Amino acid sequence: MQIVSDIADLTGFHNCSLVPTMGALHGGHTSLIRSAAQGDRPVVISVFVNPTQFAPGEDLATYPRTLAHDLEVSAAAGAVAAFVPGVETMYPPNMDLWVPSLPEVATTPGLEDASRPHFFTGVCQVVARLFDLTRPSMAWFGEKDWQQLQVVRAMVGEHQDRWPDLEIHAGETVREPDGLAMSSRNAYLDQSARPRALALGAALQVATSGEPAMRRVLLEADLDVDYAVIRDAETLQSPQAGRPRRALVAATLDGTRLIDNAAVG
Ligand code: PAF
Repeated sequence: MQIVSDIADLTGFHNCSLVPTMGALHGGHTSLIRSAAQGDRPVVISVFVNPTQFAPGEDLATYPRTLAHDLEVSAAAGAVAAFVPGVETMYPPNMDLWVPSLPEVATTPGLEDASRPHFFTGVCQVVARLFDLTRPSMAWFGEKDWQQLQVVRAMVGEHQDRWPDLEIHAGETVREPDGLAMSSRNAYLDQSARPRALALGAALQVATSGEPAMRRVLLEADLDVDYAVIRDAETLQSPQAGRPRRALVAATLDGTRLIDNAAVG
């Protein structure tokens, strides 16, 4: 496993299959790496806790950092290199970096965009920079961050000139045996919060009964509900007849904000 921190050393990895991460790798990440490794491109992960996608007061300082573990598990899953840049490499202070315009799905659904208004600006900025530096042929994102996945797809679609041959691939959400979606932030849940977090998955299971039923499940577990909605799976606007639908939930318990989503049959 090669560890790359200088941009110059990335040239040997152009056309790779890229798995962008903020580290603290869990089974969701290793599943993405394993899927990427089934293709014919060398798999490169990036590990960068991107400051621009955290608002002041969010968990940038305390975000779990487990680099030695991340390198070990990503190599075992099939990655050949890890790009681990410093902040100055990603955002050189004296360089005017290109910032992509935000696609509509990053600004209008009233979901993550409403609760974390800075978030997609930061995600698009860092993902665009990672694409520019590593020039991958494929890039992998987890379905757990469903809106992020749609935003990245839309951004790449709107900037075909910049990344003409880049394919975006998605990996299914990986769950703990009891159904909780794997997330680096699950580490914040203590023993009393952990069982209540299962309400997110339970809310998705009643999605065919409608949004009020979903919300009720979250409230019964005493979660602070941010949203519990059913939307068009791609635009995240109101559902349209004949198009795929997605149920999405976000809620906070004991200060930890969790999200989850599922297809609605
Ligand atoms: O999903 C994440 O871990 C991050 O938002 C990403 C895509 C690596 C950008 O920092």
